Amino acid sequence: MGIEVVVEGLTKSFGEQNIWRDVSLTLPAGEVSVMLGPSGTGKTVFLKSLIGLLKPEKGRVLINGVDMVNSPTRDIYETRKLFGLMFQDGALFGSLSLFDNIAFPLREHTRKKESEIRRIVMERIEVVGLLGAEGKLPGEISGGMRKRAGLARALVLDPQIILCDEPDSGLDPVRTAYLSQLLIDLNAQIDATMLIVTHNLDIAATVPDNMGMLFRRELVTFGPREVLLTSDEPVVSQFLGGRREGPIGMSEEKDAATLAAEANSVTPAAPRVIVPQRQPSPGLPPRRAVARRRERVMRMIDTLPPAARSAIRETYARDAAAATVTAPVAGSGA
Ligand SMILES: Nc1ncnc2c1ncn2[C@@H]1O[C@H](COP(=O)(O)OP(=O)(O)OP(=O)(O)O)[C@@H](O)[C@H]1O
Ligand SMILES: [Mg+2]
Repeated sequence: MGIEVVVEGLTKSFGEQNIWRDVSLTLPAGEVSVMLGPSGTGKTVFLKSLIGLLKPEKGRVLINGVDMVNSPTRDIYETRKLFGLMFQDGALFGSLSLFDNIAFPLREHTRKKESEIRRIVMERIEVVGLLGAEGKLPGEISGGMRKRAGLARALVLDPQIILCDEPDSGLDPVRTAYLSQLLIDLNAQIDATMLIVTHNLDIAATVPDNMGMLFRRELVTFGPREVLLTSDEPVVSQFLGGRREGPIGMSEEKDAATLAAEANSVTPAAPRVIVPQRQPSPGLPPRRAVARRRERVMRMIDTLPPAARSAIRETYARDAAAATVTAPVAGSGA
Protein backbone atom coordinates (compact mmCIF):
# COMPACT_ATOMS: atom_id res chain seq x y z
CA MET A 1 0.00 0.00 0.00
CA GLY A 2 1.07 3.56 -0.66
CA ILE A 3 2.84 5.69 1.89
CA GLU A 4 1.88 9.13 3.12
CA VAL A 5 4.19 12.00 2.17
CA VAL A 6 4.19 14.93 4.58
CA VAL A 7 5.65 18.24 3.40
CA GLU A 8 6.20 20.90 6.06
CA GLY A 9 7.20 24.51 5.48
CA LEU A 10 9.34 23.80 2.43
CA THR A 11 11.22 26.77 0.94
CA LYS A 12 13.53 26.56 -2.08
CA SER A 13 15.76 29.17 -3.69
CA PHE A 14 18.56 29.06 -6.24
CA GLY A 15 20.98 31.73 -5.07
CA GLU A 16 18.96 34.95 -4.84
CA GLN A 17 16.01 33.53 -6.75
CA ASN A 18 13.27 32.21 -4.49
CA ILE A 19 11.19 29.53 -6.28
CA TRP A 20 8.50 28.94 -3.65
CA ARG A 21 8.24 29.33 0.10
CA ASP A 22 6.55 27.71 3.05
CA VAL A 23 4.88 24.91 1.10
CA SER A 24 3.02 22.48 3.38
CA LEU A 25 0.81 19.63 2.27
CA THR A 26 0.17 15.92 2.80
CA LEU A 27 -0.13 13.42 -0.01
CA PRO A 28 -2.50 10.90 1.59
CA ALA A 29 -1.48 7.24 1.34
CA GLY A 30 -2.61 5.60 -1.86
CA GLU A 31 -4.50 8.63 -3.15
CA VAL A 32 -3.92 10.40 -6.44
CA SER A 33 -3.00 14.09 -6.28
CA VAL A 34 -2.41 16.64 -9.03
CA MET A 35 -0.22 19.75 -8.85
CA LEU A 36 -1.13 22.54 -11.23
CA GLY A 37 0.70 25.76 -11.95
CA PRO A 38 1.84 27.97 -14.81
CA SER A 39 5.17 27.25 -16.46
CA GLY A 40 8.19 28.12 -14.38
CA THR A 41 6.44 28.09 -10.99
CA GLY A 42 8.69 25.33 -9.74
CA LYS A 43 6.63 22.17 -10.12
CA THR A 44 9.55 20.10 -11.35
CA VAL A 45 11.73 21.59 -8.62
CA PHE A 46 9.06 20.48 -6.12
CA LEU A 47 9.10 16.87 -7.37
CA LYS A 48 12.89 16.80 -7.25
CA SER A 49 12.79 18.11 -3.68
CA LEU A 50 10.44 15.29 -2.63
CA ILE A 51 12.98 12.65 -3.62
CA GLY A 52 15.93 14.56 -2.22
CA LEU A 53 17.56 15.39 -5.56
CA LEU A 54 17.29 19.10 -4.75
CA LYS A 55 17.81 20.56 -1.28
CA PRO A 56 15.30 23.14 -0.07
CA GLU A 57 16.90 25.49 2.46
CA LYS A 58 13.99 25.21 4.88
CA GLY A 59 11.36 22.65 5.82
CA ARG A 60 10.94 18.88 5.85
CA VAL A 61 9.65 16.08 3.64
CA LEU A 62 8.71 13.12 5.82
CA ILE A 63 8.35 9.61 4.43
CA ASN A 64 8.27 6.69 6.87
CA GLY A 65 10.07 8.88 9.39
CA VAL A 66 12.88 9.80 7.00
CA ASP A 67 13.30 13.50 6.21
CA MET A 68 14.27 13.72 2.53
CA VAL A 69 15.79 17.15 3.16
CA ASN A 70 17.89 16.70 6.29
CA SER A 71 18.41 12.97 6.93
CA PRO A 72 21.76 11.30 6.32
CA THR A 73 22.43 10.58 2.63
CA ARG A 74 22.21 6.82 3.21
CA ASP A 75 18.65 7.04 4.55
CA ILE A 76 17.60 9.34 1.73
CA TYR A 77 19.07 6.96 -0.81
CA GLU A 78 17.24 3.98 0.73
CA THR A 79 13.94 5.85 0.87
CA ARG A 80 14.33 6.97 -2.74
CA LYS A 81 13.88 3.32 -3.73
CA LEU A 82 10.21 3.63 -2.72
CA PHE A 83 9.67 6.07 -5.58
CA GLY A 84 8.87 5.58 -9.22
CA LEU A 85 9.56 8.61 -11.36
CA MET A 86 8.20 9.47 -14.75
CA PHE A 87 10.16 12.42 -16.11
CA GLN A 88 8.82 15.32 -18.14
CA ASP A 89 10.83 14.33 -21.22
CA GLY A 90 10.58 10.54 -20.91
CA ALA A 91 14.35 10.44 -20.31
CA LEU A 92 14.88 7.17 -22.16
CA PHE A 93 18.34 6.12 -23.35
CA GLY A 94 18.28 6.52 -27.13
CA SER A 95 20.66 3.66 -27.83
CA LEU A 96 18.81 1.09 -25.70
CA SER A 97 15.72 -0.87 -26.72
CA LEU A 98 12.52 -0.26 -24.79
CA PHE A 99 13.13 -3.55 -23.01
CA ASP A 100 16.61 -2.53 -21.86
CA ASN A 101 15.40 0.94 -20.92
CA ILE A 102 12.66 -0.51 -18.73
CA ALA A 103 15.00 -3.16 -17.29
CA PHE A 104 17.61 -0.52 -16.41
CA PRO A 105 16.51 0.24 -12.81
CA LEU A 106 16.33 -3.49 -12.04
CA ARG A 107 19.84 -4.12 -13.35
CA GLU A 108 21.12 -1.01 -11.55
CA HIS A 109 19.44 -1.39 -8.16
CA THR A 110 18.79 -5.11 -7.67
CA ARG A 111 20.63 -8.40 -8.05
CA LYS A 112 17.77 -10.18 -9.73
CA LYS A 113 18.49 -12.92 -12.25
CA GLU A 114 17.97 -12.09 -15.92
CA SER A 115 14.98 -14.45 -16.11
CA GLU A 116 13.28 -12.66 -13.22
CA ILE A 117 14.07 -9.28 -14.80
CA ARG A 118 12.50 -10.46 -18.04
CA ARG A 119 9.32 -11.52 -16.24
CA ILE A 120 8.94 -8.18 -14.44
CA VAL A 121 9.75 -6.06 -17.48
CA MET A 122 7.30 -7.91 -19.73
CA GLU A 123 4.60 -7.60 -17.07
CA ARG A 124 5.04 -3.82 -16.89
CA ILE A 125 5.20 -3.57 -20.69
CA GLU A 126 1.84 -5.28 -20.81
CA VAL A 127 0.35 -2.94 -18.17
CA VAL A 128 1.18 0.12 -20.26
CA GLY A 129 0.07 -1.48 -23.51
CA LEU A 130 3.44 -1.78 -25.27
CA LEU A 131 3.58 -5.53 -25.87
CA GLY A 132 5.31 -6.16 -29.18
CA ALA A 133 7.29 -2.90 -29.09
CA GLU A 134 9.88 -4.02 -26.53
CA GLY A 135 12.60 -4.48 -29.18
CA LYS A 136 12.23 -0.98 -30.62
CA LEU A 137 14.51 1.97 -29.97
CA PRO A 138 12.96 5.14 -28.46
CA GLY A 139 13.58 6.95 -31.76
CA GLU A 140 11.44 4.43 -33.63
CA ILE A 141 8.22 4.92 -31.67
CA SER A 142 5.72 7.75 -31.15
CA GLY A 143 5.86 10.28 -28.35
CA GLY A 144 2.87 8.65 -26.65
CA MET A 145 4.61 5.29 -26.67
CA ARG A 146 7.75 6.87 -25.22
CA LYS A 147 5.63 8.34 -22.41
CA ARG A 148 4.20 4.93 -21.63
CA ALA A 149 7.67 3.36 -21.75
CA GLY A 150 8.77 5.99 -19.22
CA LEU A 151 5.82 5.00 -17.05
CA ALA A 152 6.68 1.28 -17.36
CA ARG A 153 10.21 2.05 -16.26
CA ALA A 154 8.88 4.00 -13.28
CA LEU A 155 6.97 0.86 -12.26
CA VAL A 156 9.63 -1.87 -12.31
CA LEU A 157 10.82 -1.43 -8.74
CA ASP A 158 7.27 -1.77 -7.34
CA PRO A 159 7.12 1.85 -6.22
CA GLN A 160 4.88 2.88 -3.34
CA ILE A 161 5.03 6.52 -4.37
CA ILE A 162 4.77 7.50 -8.03
CA LEU A 163 5.67 10.96 -9.31
CA CYS A 164 4.71 11.88 -12.88
CA ASP A 165 6.02 15.11 -14.38
CA GLU A 166 3.66 16.22 -17.16
CA PRO A 167 2.81 12.74 -18.38
CA ASP A 168 0.59 14.31 -21.07
CA SER A 169 3.01 16.81 -22.65
CA GLY A 170 3.17 16.22 -26.37
CA LEU A 171 0.15 13.92 -26.42
CA ASP A 172 -3.05 14.45 -28.42
CA PRO A 173 -6.38 14.58 -26.51
CA VAL A 174 -7.25 10.96 -27.23
CA ARG A 175 -3.86 9.68 -26.05
CA THR A 176 -4.20 11.91 -23.00
CA ALA A 177 -7.55 10.32 -22.19
CA TYR A 178 -5.99 6.85 -22.46
CA LEU A 179 -3.16 7.95 -20.22
CA SER A 180 -5.59 9.38 -17.63
CA GLN A 181 -7.35 6.02 -17.57
CA LEU A 182 -4.01 4.21 -17.32
CA LEU A 183 -3.07 6.26 -14.24
CA ILE A 184 -6.36 5.44 -12.50
CA ASP A 185 -6.07 1.75 -13.47
CA LEU A 186 -2.54 1.69 -12.12
CA ASN A 187 -3.71 3.15 -8.82
CA ALA A 188 -6.41 0.47 -8.59
CA GLN A 189 -3.84 -2.25 -9.24
CA ILE A 190 -1.03 -1.16 -6.92
CA ASP A 191 -2.56 1.34 -4.46
CA ALA A 192 0.51 3.59 -4.67
CA THR A 193 0.50 7.21 -3.56
CA MET A 194 0.62 9.30 -6.74
CA LEU A 195 1.48 12.91 -7.53
CA ILE A 196 0.97 14.11 -11.08
CA VAL A 197 2.23 17.46 -12.32
CA THR A 198 0.22 18.61 -15.30
CA HIS A 199 -1.17 21.53 -17.29
CA ASN A 200 -3.83 19.29 -18.71
CA LEU A 201 -7.37 20.21 -17.72
CA ASP A 202 -8.80 16.82 -18.61
CA ILE A 203 -6.40 15.06 -16.26
CA ALA A 204 -6.97 17.68 -13.57
CA ALA A 205 -10.75 17.37 -13.79
CA THR A 206 -11.06 13.58 -13.97
CA VAL A 207 -8.08 11.85 -12.34
CA PRO A 208 -7.11 13.13 -8.89
CA ASP A 209 -8.57 12.80 -5.41
CA ASN A 210 -6.69 15.94 -4.39
CA MET A 211 -5.43 18.98 -6.16
CA GLY A 212 -3.05 21.84 -5.49
CA MET A 213 -1.67 24.80 -7.37
CA LEU A 214 1.62 26.68 -7.23
CA PHE A 215 1.55 30.37 -8.17
CA ARG A 216 3.59 33.42 -7.28
CA ARG A 217 6.05 31.45 -5.18
CA GLU A 218 3.35 29.94 -3.02
CA LEU A 219 1.07 26.97 -2.76
CA VAL A 220 -2.28 28.64 -3.52
CA THR A 221 -4.20 25.72 -2.10
CA PHE A 222 -4.04 21.97 -1.71
CA GLY A 223 -6.93 19.71 -0.75
CA PRO A 224 -9.79 17.53 -1.97
CA ARG A 225 -10.37 18.01 -5.73
CA GLU A 226 -13.70 19.72 -5.10
CA VAL A 227 -11.95 22.62 -3.34
CA LEU A 228 -9.98 23.68 -6.39
CA LEU A 229 -12.72 22.77 -8.84
CA THR A 230 -15.19 25.08 -7.09
CA SER A 231 -12.68 27.77 -6.08
CA ASP A 232 -13.35 31.36 -7.11
CA GLU A 233 -9.72 32.43 -6.61
CA PRO A 234 -9.00 34.37 -9.82
CA VAL A 235 -5.81 32.47 -10.57
CA VAL A 236 -7.49 29.09 -10.10
CA SER A 237 -10.54 29.85 -12.22
CA GLN A 238 -8.39 31.42 -14.92
CA PHE A 239 -6.21 28.33 -15.07
CA LEU A 240 -9.06 25.82 -14.96
CA GLY A 241 -11.05 27.86 -17.47
CA GLY A 242 -8.03 28.24 -19.75
CA ARG A 243 -8.74 31.97 -20.12
CA ARG A 244 -6.42 34.85 -20.92
CA GLU A 245 -8.16 37.21 -18.49
CA GLY A 246 -6.77 36.87 -15.00
CA PRO A 247 -3.57 37.17 -13.01
CA ILE A 248 -1.58 34.72 -15.16
CA GLY A 249 0.09 36.43 -18.12
CA MET A 250 2.35 35.23 -20.91
CA SER A 251 5.42 35.87 -18.80
CA GLU A 252 3.70 34.39 -15.75
CA GLU A 253 2.46 37.52 -13.97
CA LYS A 254 0.63 40.61 -15.18
CA ASP A 255 1.14 44.07 -13.75
CA ALA A 256 -1.57 45.88 -11.81
CA ALA A 257 -2.50 48.24 -14.69
CA THR A 258 -3.21 45.39 -17.10
CA LEU A 259 -5.29 43.62 -14.47
CA ALA A 260 -7.30 46.77 -13.72
CA ALA A 261 -7.99 47.33 -17.42
CA GLU A 262 -9.16 43.75 -17.76
CA ALA A 263 -11.43 43.96 -14.75
CA ASN A 264 -13.70 46.30 -16.74
CA SER A 265 -13.94 44.10 -19.79
CA VAL A 266 -13.96 40.54 -18.48
CA THR A 267 -16.79 38.27 -19.43
CA PRO A 268 -17.81 36.37 -16.30
CA ALA A 269 -16.53 32.81 -16.17
CA ALA A 270 -19.13 30.17 -16.92
CA PRO A 271 -20.07 28.23 -13.78
CA ARG A 272 -17.91 25.14 -13.62
CA VAL A 273 -19.46 21.73 -13.44
CA ILE A 274 -17.60 19.01 -11.62
CA VAL A 275 -17.31 15.98 -13.86
CA PRO A 276 -17.19 12.62 -12.11
CA GLN A 277 -13.80 11.13 -11.34
CA ARG A 278 -12.63 8.32 -13.63
CA GLN A 279 -13.28 4.78 -12.43
CA PRO A 280 -10.93 1.82 -12.94
CA SER A 281 -11.56 -0.11 -16.16
CA PRO A 282 -14.01 -3.04 -15.98
CA GLY A 283 -12.40 -6.15 -14.54
CA LEU A 284 -10.03 -4.26 -12.26
CA PRO A 285 -10.45 -4.15 -8.48
CA PRO A 286 -11.91 -0.96 -6.99
CA ARG A 287 -9.35 1.61 -5.81
CA ARG A 288 -8.63 0.95 -2.14
CA ALA A 289 -7.99 4.65 -1.56
CA VAL A 290 -11.62 5.53 -2.26
CA ALA A 291 -12.98 4.44 1.12
CA ARG A 292 -10.02 5.93 3.00
CA ARG A 293 -10.40 9.20 1.12
CA ARG A 294 -14.09 9.39 1.83
CA GLU A 295 -13.54 8.95 5.56
CA ARG A 296 -10.75 11.49 5.57
CA VAL A 297 -12.72 14.08 3.62
CA MET A 298 -15.87 13.64 5.70
CA ARG A 299 -13.79 14.25 8.85
CA MET A 300 -12.56 17.59 7.48
CA ILE A 301 -15.64 18.67 5.57
CA ASP A 302 -16.70 21.37 8.04
CA THR A 303 -13.38 23.15 7.52
CA LEU A 304 -13.88 23.45 3.73
CA PRO A 305 -15.46 26.34 1.79
CA PRO A 306 -19.26 26.02 1.30
CA ALA A 307 -19.07 25.38 -2.47
CA ALA A 308 -16.61 22.53 -1.95
CA ARG A 309 -18.71 21.14 0.88
CA SER A 310 -21.85 20.85 -1.21
CA ALA A 311 -19.89 19.48 -4.20
CA ILE A 312 -18.45 16.74 -1.98
CA ARG A 313 -21.85 15.90 -0.49
CA GLU A 314 -23.38 15.72 -3.99
CA THR A 315 -20.61 13.45 -5.25
CA TYR A 316 -20.94 11.03 -2.37
CA ALA A 317 -24.75 11.08 -2.55
CA ARG A 318 -24.54 10.23 -6.26
CA ASP A 319 -22.07 7.40 -5.52
CA ALA A 320 -24.38 6.03 -2.83
CA ALA A 321 -27.36 6.16 -5.19
CA ALA A 322 -25.39 4.36 -7.90
CA ALA A 323 -24.31 1.72 -5.36
CA THR A 324 -27.89 0.93 -4.31
CA VAL A 325 -28.91 0.50 -7.96
CA THR A 326 -26.09 -1.89 -8.85
CA ALA A 327 -25.40 -3.76 -5.61
CA PRO A 328 -27.19 -7.07 -5.21
CA VAL A 329 -29.70 -6.70 -2.37
CA ALA A 330 -29.22 -9.28 0.37
CA GLY A 331 -32.20 -11.54 0.82
CA SER A 332 -34.13 -10.14 -2.15
CA GLY A 333 -36.42 -12.57 -3.95
CA ALA A 334 -36.57 -14.89 -0.95
N1 LIG B 1 19.17 23.45 -10.99
C1 LIG B 1 18.68 24.68 -11.10
N2 LIG B 1 19.49 25.76 -10.88
C2 LIG B 1 19.00 27.01 -10.97
N3 LIG B 1 17.73 27.31 -11.26
C3 LIG B 1 16.88 26.30 -11.50
C4 LIG B 1 17.32 24.93 -11.43
N4 LIG B 1 16.25 24.13 -11.68
C5 LIG B 1 15.22 24.97 -11.91
N5 LIG B 1 15.57 26.25 -11.79
C6 LIG B 1 14.67 27.42 -11.92
O1 LIG B 1 13.53 27.20 -11.12
C7 LIG B 1 12.35 27.73 -11.73
C8 LIG B 1 11.25 26.70 -11.75
O2 LIG B 1 11.61 25.67 -12.64
P1 LIG B 1 10.73 24.35 -12.84
O3 LIG B 1 11.39 23.56 -13.90
O4 LIG B 1 10.50 23.68 -11.56
O5 LIG B 1 9.33 24.95 -13.37
P2 LIG B 1 8.02 24.16 -13.78
O6 LIG B 1 6.92 24.66 -12.94
O7 LIG B 1 8.30 22.69 -13.75
O8 LIG B 1 7.79 24.65 -15.28
P3 LIG B 1 7.18 23.83 -16.56
O9 LIG B 1 5.70 23.80 -16.34
O10 LIG B 1 7.55 24.70 -17.71
O11 LIG B 1 7.83 22.49 -16.59
C9 LIG B 1 12.79 28.22 -13.11
O12 LIG B 1 12.95 29.61 -13.04
C10 LIG B 1 14.12 27.54 -13.33
O13 LIG B 1 14.95 28.34 -14.13
MG1 LIG C 1 8.43 21.19 -15.15
